[in-house]
This record gives sequence, structure tokens and C-alpha cells, in this order.
Amino acid sequence: MLQVKDVVKRFKSGGEEIAAVDGVTLEIPDATFASIVGSSGSGKSTLLALMGALDAPTSGTIHVGGVDVTALSPGKQVAYRRSRIGFVFQQYNLVPNLTALENVMLPLEFDGVKGAERKDRALALLRQVGLSGAKLGRLPGKLSGGEQQRVSIARALANGPEVILADEPTGNLDSRNGKRIVTLLRDLVVAKKTTVVVVTHDRGVANRADITFSMRDGKIVHTKNRGV
Ligand SMILES: Nc1ncnc2c1ncn2[C@@H]1O[C@H](COP(=O)(O)OP(=O)(O)OP(=O)(O)O)[C@@H](O)[C@H]1O
Ligand SMILES: [Mg+2]
Repeated sequence: MLQVKDVVKRFKSGGEEIAAVDGVTLEIPDATFASIVGSSGSGKSTLLALMGALDAPTSGTIHVGGVDVTALSPGKQVAYRRSRIGFVFQQYNLVPNLTALENVMLPLEFDGVKGAERKDRALALLRQVGLSGAKLGRLPGKLSGGEQQRVSIARALANGPEVILADEPTGNLDSRNGKRIVTLLRDLVVAKKTTVVVVTHDRGVANRADITFSMRDGKIVHTKNRGV
């Protein structure tokens, strides 16, 4: 269960203070495919970053599997992110001087997976997102946006995370690859009991979610539960 309770995140910029997330309370059961929708600037990415302990809320608590991630020491937060969370960032955040394959191997290396197995597992993950051949040896800068996005999805899956937090994972993909990624994420929910939280502007993606949260001005203004 992922539980967000009374969470506020304020940013100060140029003397002004804005509440990017303004009192959000929500629950996402295990093995759920959840989506977050809302217009630009409504606080979706900020909320996702808080759920993944990439940033600390101004107030409120976030529990993942019963653990209050906002109360962990910085060192424990790093360990929590590495072992339990898979991130797909809106801007991909791939390591620019590593190839596609190396980017996916990196989290496995952090996890202590040995060389040959590391490569086999990374290749299998990249195949799942539809990448193979010469593209695997290219640096991110030599790949299209959609290809970089798929590398970042493969990387997020590498450690078998319990929770996948994905910011616009299909934003740069054509409809065929977009459907493929959504199907892959859905399959993980069913097969591995992974919890997937997807920020999306794509109605087709939101419609396939078990729960959809709509945000406006930092608040959840609507929750649509299709039953799990
Ligand atoms: N580090 C920051 N410093 C100051 N303001 C920020 C920061 N990050 C986000 N904001 C502001 O918080 C609000 C919410 O931003 P956020 O990125 O969460 O929106 P979003 O819903 O993800 O938008 P988009 O759909 O465009 O990605 C916006 O007004 C944004 O300008
Ligand atoms: Mg965003």
C-alpha cells in the first residue's frame, strides 16, 4: 500500500511561494495500476517525486509498505529508492556518456549483479521495451526521444522494483510503442504485484488504470476507481 497523507509541498521562487502539492491524501493498494492526470503545472511531477522520496514534503507523511519514507535518513532514502522504486522521469535522466545497454546495466551493478548476468538481464529488459541490435551500443544523444524513453523504462524495471513511478512514460512514443509499454506495465502489476503510478496526458493510458487521480492546483479534485 502506498499512502499519502495531508501532503503539502511549497516552493519559494523569486519571493513568491507556491504550493505545488496542496494537501493531498490518497491510497494506492498493492498490485494496482494508478494514473495521475491534470493540466500542466497542477503538481503531478512534484507529487511523484515525493512518493519516491526524491524530495521531502513541507508537511504530511508518505508510507510505502508501512514505512514512513519521509522519516528515513538521507542514506536510507537512497537505499529505499534503489531497492524498491523504479523511476521513469519526464526528461529520461539517462547517463549521457553510457550506452543504452550500459544505462540499463547500471542499476544491476549497484545491486551487485555479476557481469555476464548483468548483460543478459539488461538485454532481456531492452527487448521487452522493443529495443535491440545496434541501438543498444549508442549513447542516449544518438537515440530518438522515444528510444531514450524506452531505455529509461527498461532501466526502471531492472531491479524488480515494488513500485514504479513513471512520468509520461508514453509521452514520446507512437501509439504502437505506447500500447506496448502500457501492456508491459499492466503485466507487471498482474504478474509481479508491482504498484505502478503513471502520470499521463494520454486518455488511452488513463483509461487502462485501476484508479485515476485528477489534479488541479496541487489538489486531487477527482478520483475514479474502476475496482481492482
Ligand atoms: N523546484 C521548483 N521550484 C519552484 N517551483 C516549482 C519547482 N518544481 C515545480 N514547481 C512549480 O510547482 C508547480 C507544479 O509543478 P509540476 O512540475 O509538479 O507540474 P506538472 O503537473 O508535473 O506539470 P507538467 O504536466 O507540465 O509536467 C508549477 O507551478 C511549477 O512551476
Ligand atoms: Mg510534470
